[in-house]
Amino acid sequence: MENWTIDKVRRTFLDFFKAKGHTEVASSPLLPAEDNTLLFANAGMNQFKKLFLGLEKRSYTRACSAQKCVRAGGKHNDLENVGFTTRHHTFFEMLGNFSFGDYFKEDAIKYAWELITEVFKLDKSRLYVTVFREDDEAEQLWLKNTDVDPKHIFRLDEHDNFWQMGDTGPCGPCSEIHYDLGEGFKAEKPFFDNGMPDFDCGRFVEIWNLVFMQFNRDESGRLTPLPKPNIDTGMGLERITSILNGKLSNYDIDIFQDLIHFTENLLGKSVPAELRSSLNVIADHARSTSFLIADTITPSNEGRGYVLRRIMRRAIRHGHKLGFNE
Ligand code: ALA
Repeated sequence: MENWTIDKVRRTFLDFFKAKGHTEVASSPLLPAEDNTLLFANAGMNQFKKLFLGLEKRSYTRACSAQKCVRAGGKHNDLENVGFTTRHHTFFEMLGNFSFGDYFKEDAIKYAWELITEVFKLDKSRLYVTVFREDDEAEQLWLKNTDVDPKHIFRLDEHDNFWQMGDTGPCGPCSEIHYDLGEGFKAEKPFFDNGMPDFDCGRFVEIWNLVFMQFNRDESGRLTPLPKPNIDTGMGLERITSILNGKLSNYDIDIFQDLIHFTENLLGKSVPAELRSSLNVIADHARSTSFLIADTITPSNEGRGYVLRRIMRRAIRHGHKLGFNE
């Protein structure tokens, strides 16, 4: 099996989209600039919000990035899941390609399929696609432009297939690509419900979300069409790296294993199976804590600093469970 380091996966994604006319844009800091609707950067599209809204123009209409994200508060909050699932993190990197009024659904789908099946060479029989309940067009485009198994396309409602950044802001229907880890994955829930995969059971990992950004939601909840349709996508770097290396859990990839071994060495004894999730929590929270502090957020009694403090406390609490007392 090819050795996909996290750096190689990130570079492959960005180079793929650069070759398709996208400008590589650096990650923005975790502290959102001029945006009080957001606690932390939580998606690649945050730094492009004004472009989607038609309030700003740049020299490019296609971009790609690897964005630092923290999801530990606000609309997208994964804090309590972290450590206990194989795929949630407070801090992660989101790979994304973006179109600002340039290409729309068809090319977004074509590019995604080309990258995952021809470059990453994922086994097509393990790929599943979901589209928004009412989005006949997206389903047709998948069938026309790719060789995805038609029996692997499912329709879901707003909860899963309509993405929005926060309570207000750009949003739209989306189409998600899931990877089947196979029967070797141990889940507490049944894998299928009436022939439909349970996309929350853990066996089917959402690897890429393609958002068809078409609306802006205002404070009253009303949707108005954006000046032009846009594309916003997000692929979890740690998830795709884990899959490319044949792992069943993100925590089994090198960047997490290094932190887990470091913690075990500090502890000086091996950690029994029932406590190993605490090692995951510490590895994850060490990353979010470090990156938040590096981006000038420090622990405090309120707002962003308080969320950081809760992350640190949670890591410390799990440290105590393992036997650390300093
Ligand atoms: N903005 C979309 C997401 O975060 C791609 O899932």
